[in-house]
Amino acid sequence: MPAIEIKNNIYWVGAVDWNLKNFHGYAMARRGTSYNAYLVLDDKITLFDTVSEKFKWDLYHQVRSLVKLEEIDYIVVNHVEMDHSGALPFMVDKIQPEKIFCSSMGEKAIHGHFHKNDWPLQVVKDGESISLGSRNVHFLETRMLHWPDSMFSYIPQDKLLISSDAFGQNIASQKLFDDQHDLNLLLSEARHYYTNIILPFSPLVLKLLDKVQEAGLEIDMIAPDHGIIWRSHPGKILQSYREFASQTLQPKAVLVYDTMWGSTEKMVKAVSDALAEEGIDIRIMSLKSFHHSDIMGEFSDAAALICASPTHNNGMLPLMADFLTYMKGLKPKNRLGATLGSYGWSGEAPAAMARVLEDAGFELPEKPLRTKFVPAHEQLAQCKELGRSLASAIKARTGL
Ligand SMILES: Cc1cc2nc3c(=O)[nH]c(=O)nc-3n(C[C@H](O)[C@H](O)[C@H](O)COP(=O)(O)O)c2cc1C
Ligand SMILES: [Fe+2]
Ligand SMILES: [Fe+2]
Repeated sequence: MPAIEIKNNIYWVGAVDWNLKNFHGYAMARRGTSYNAYLVLDDKITLFDTVSEKFKWDLYHQVRSLVKLEEIDYIVVNHVEMDHSGALPFMVDKIQPEKIFCSSMGEKAIHGHFHKNDWPLQVVKDGESISLGSRNVHFLETRMLHWPDSMFSYIPQDKLLISSDAFGQNIASQKLFDDQHDLNLLLSEARHYYTNIILPFSPLVLKLLDKVQEAGLEIDMIAPDHGIIWRSHPGKILQSYREFASQTLQPKAVLVYDTMWGSTEKMVKAVSDALAEEGIDIRIMSLKSFHHSDIMGEFSDAAALICASPTHNNGMLPLMADFLTYMKGLKPKNRLGATLGSYGWSGEAPAAMARVLEDAGFELPEKPLRTKFVPAHEQLAQCKELGRSLASAIKARTGL
């Protein structure tokens, strides 16, 4: 894909990873992704971020189509994670930059990754600006969004925010701008990305959004390091981030389960029938069919999570343990939960899952529910009772 001018003399020079399925080894990218890098042509020619190591030649040729690499003066490293810095040693070697700008934590992370003592690193503080000639770059530290080194670069003359991993989505496309896509699809991908990458840092996101608002930064374009650039709807993604971060919940329940012989699945269906009868939006997701990151994408705005597993060797099935570990780490807030499952003789799984949910701060209105072997009509009626009780708790919480 060729370099694309996004503002006068500012070019997207990134790489599109059309075939990516597994993002960073733990989340599914449903539409591939891109590693966005930006080149500003000014008195000081400046490259913002690089791409993953595998795509270093793509970046090289993009940049080379505009300038010779040795003509570049500065590199700005907004984030040291390897999807954006993997090509950095290669580019530093080709460019021989006068300066490499990074945050103080970025300096430490660059040393931790590349062990180079002869790079011309220059640490910039939160609020500091540098001049490129006709433009300034204003740096905003965004510590822990989502790494300690993360920062934004803002160019006031262009009203452009280069936002690192924030406001991104995993989308591979030759259409670089938001108005070339269906907005609902973009926002749904942005939510999926937010939930799996940024959700644990939601309190910091709210503070950052306030800080951006208070600083009165005029922003008419947000250029993230993954996916599509927001040029027509920058306000929409800012507003959506406020919604994602405040974890505004819908009257929706995600029923996640695994089963060996189908008994636990029968219980799940009975619970979901009652929830649906009560007007709750339901998603039934087998752990054999859905990746933990896709389940979290659905759970992002759901008030309740129902976890169901049969007892297996005195505990829950391993896919449920995987999911719960992942879910807990993302720190969802204000949620309701319930647990259930079939068992044969000892039946520990529902209580074990309930302990995890309670540890993660969930409120469980009902006790863990278990059925010995295959549920008969009476046990399925108990499941429906649990569903009805949970539905009224969901309604109370969401104001339905
Ligand atoms: C390999 C294996 C290990 C099991 N371990 C236990 C156990 O430790 N305690 C228990 O109560 N039931 C245990 N069970 C019995 C199942 O929980 C029981 O068959 C249950 O009805 C299966 O539910 P499902 O149809 O949803 O898979 C085990 C079953 C299998 C196949
Ligand atoms: Fe990152
Ligand atoms: Fe990234």
